[in-house]
Formats: sequence, C-alpha cells, structure tokens
Amino acid sequence: MNFKLSEEHEMIRKMVRDFARNEVAPTAAERDEEERFDRGIFEKMAELGLTGIPWPEQYGGIGSDYLAYCIAVEELSRVCASTGVTLSAHTSLAGWPIFKFGNEEQKQKYLKPMAQGKKMGAYGLTEPGSGSDAGGMRTIARLDGDDYILNGSKIFITNGGEADIYVVFALTDPENKHKGTTAFIVESDFPGFSVGKKEKKMGIRSSPTTEIIFEDCRVPKENILGEVGEGFKIAMMTLDGGRNGIAAQAVGIAQGALDAAVDYAKERVQFGKPIAQQQGVGFKLADMATQVEASRLLTYQAAWLESEGLPYGKESAMSKLLAGDTAMKVTTEAVQVFGGYGYTKEYPVERFMRDAKITQIYEGTQEIQRLVISRMLTK
Ligand code: CAA
Repeated sequence: MNFKLSEEHEMIRKMVRDFARNEVAPTAAERDEEERFDRGIFEKMAELGLTGIPWPEQYGGIGSDYLAYCIAVEELSRVCASTGVTLSAHTSLAGWPIFKFGNEEQKQKYLKPMAQGKKMGAYGLTEPGSGSDAGGMRTIARLDGDDYILNGSKIFITNGGEADIYVVFALTDPENKHKGTTAFIVESDFPGFSVGKKEKKMGIRSSPTTEIIFEDCRVPKENILGEVGEGFKIAMMTLDGGRNGIAAQAVGIAQGALDAAVDYAKERVQFGKPIAQQQGVGFKLADMATQVEASRLLTYQAAWLESEGLPYGKESAMSKLLAGDTAMKVTTEAVQVFGGYGYTKEYPVERFMRDAKITQIYEGTQEIQRLVISRMLTK
C-alpha cells in the first residue's frame, strides 16, 4: 500500500493550487457577492488542460485520471467552491456519460470541444416534482421521424445558461418509468430549448443554477446517448462518479476553512496569548484537521478505484457523505474560531460555511447516499 501521490498528481496539484491562488481567489468574494459567473476563469482552466483531465488526448483531454481531476476540484474549491463545481459538473456530469456511453462521432463532436474547454457541459436530471426520486421525472421525448420532440423542464442545473451542451434524461416510454428513460445530448441552440429562472442561492453564488425548458425541442435521433431505455442507468452511473467530485469539492471547502482558522488562531491574541494556544481552540483545530484528512483519504480512494477500473459506487457515496458532513462541521467551527469576525464578510469563512451546505444536498442528499450505501451493503 502506498499513500504517496505520483509526480504527475503532485504536479497537477501544484499547478492548480498556483492557478487558484493567483487567478481564482482574488475575485472569489466579489463574484459571490455579485452572483457573477466568470467565463474567463473557465477559459483559463481550459488553457491549463483542466477542462479535460481524465479524457484521452484523442478526445481533447490530457489523458490523466480521476484522482488528478479530484485534486483539481479540491484545490479550486479551497479558494472558491463555485469554480470547483463548475469543473465538477462539466467533467463528471456531462463529460463522463459521453465518454462512457457516447459513440465515436458523439465523442468527437461533443466530448472533444468540451475537454478543450471550447464548450461547457451540464447535466439535467432533476425536475420540480422529482428530486431524490429521480425516476419520477415527467419530461417526455416523443419520436417524430428522425427526431425526438422533448417537452418538460429540468431544474437546479449547475452551469445552466452558460453551458453549450446538456446531457438530459427524458421518458421515451412513460409507462415504463426506469426502463422507459433515455439520455439525450442537447445543444443550447436547438430550437425549443431555453433557459428559465436563475436561482438566488445561499452559497456557491458565482456558479449559475438555472431551470432549462424544452418546448417541442427537436433533438436528432443520433443525439441519443447509449441505447433507448438505458437513460436511468446512465443517470445513476454518472452520479456514482459525480458524487466523488462533490466529495472533492467538500474536502477543498473544509481545507480552505481550516487554513483560514489556523492562520487566524496563530495571530489572534486573547488573555495574553494566541488563541491557538488556548486548549479549547487548539483541540477544535485538531478535530477539524482530522476530519478533513479522513475525508480526503476516502475521496482519493474512491477516485483511485475508478481510475483502476474497480467498482467505486459505494465508496463514492461514502466519500460524499463523509466529506459533505465534514465540510459543514469544519466551516461552522472555523466561523466559531474567528468569533464575531467570522460572521462578517471581512473573512472568507462565512462564505465557506454557506458554500459547504450544498455538498450535503446536491448530487443526492446525505439521506440518499445512506440509501445507496445501505442497498449496496445488503443486496
Ligand atoms: N448503476 C447502475 N444501475 C443502477 C444504479 C447504479 N448506480 N442505481 C440504480 N440502477 C438501476 C437498478 O439496478 C435498477 O435496474 P433494474 O430495474 O434493471 O433492476 C434501476 O436502475 C432502478 O433502480 P432503483 O430501483 O434502485 O431506483 P429507485 O427509483 O429506487 O432510485 C435512487 C434509486 C438511488 C434513490 C435514485 O433515484 C437516486 O440516486 N436519487 C437521487 C438523485 C440525485 O442524486 N439527484 C441529483 C441530480 S444532479 C445535481 O444535483 C445537480 C448538479 O448539477 C450538481
């Protein structure tokens, strides 16, 4: 057993850490305040090859692996969780199903420009009436000659409005729920596709979250991803990996809050000595660091399993469960270490705390992770 990261992984970590510090961190608070997405940051990530980390070079990627991708999401989220999830949704929710289930033509047409960062991807599963019960979707896809006509809407779409390519799920056989669901690749300029309401959110405010609407949206048959009726399985398998990307985001948020808390505790003097030397605060920092490290190890393990081609669905659900809860606990404690200052926007910890909450909710709530894990344990 070897816990040492390879030279390639260390190199990617250093590159993303420098980029995050120099290009992402300086505007993170302002973008959060203004709820402003910055496409320029995505374009700079593309220049560094970050928009296609796990995909082979023939599809525009850098031919690395899922661990490298998780490290990148972690380092970005350490300064800006919105930037972390932009990359995560683009890579594991939109790129992954095309890589895994797309035919050669689809990979060249869609995955390649996405990996090169010329196009951005998003994933549309959730609907107003079907969140945790993803199989309860209502969006319909009706065959009409060589096209499918999509009608319905999807909500809470990360990268919504900014993305050019959407992997969406619709019922091609409404009587047949899971086995009647099909995955489609939809381009943002297909007639009948539009972007609806943009959500105003507690956290990850510089990552756009919108509704997407299909009104007689014509999608050519060749844009079916995988087989007709295979969509629910594709949606679930996509989330298996996506959840580990969110775990990486959660680890990054928690690490960012821990870094800030340690620095502050070393400088803040009360009762004649730095608060880090007061046992109440020192022990808090110790617990925070321990939780972050445990979450990181589980997250890296799940990423490693996926990179090795081994089963990773259970471990990925576990990593999101642990890391999401860790992010919430650690950021809350970081605010506590900062005291009154932590509650203000003068320091980043209040943003980290607001950003952390979503990691317990999206890509399956913590309750759904427990359901997934317990079903896998007992099946
Ligand atoms: N891999 C492969 N197949 C799977 C699978 C997996 N991980 N999970 C389920 N399936 C298959 C099952 O084997 C079953 O197939 P058969 O009928 O052939 O046996 C079929 O799918 C139905 O499975 P279930 O009976 O388990 O389905 P269910 O209706 O009970 O739902 C669930 C299971 C786990 C609760 C699922 O609905 C779920 O994951 N819900 C949460 C949805 C979610 O995470 N949404 C987040 C959306 S993305 C997002 O958050 C926004 C963003 O952009 C970041």
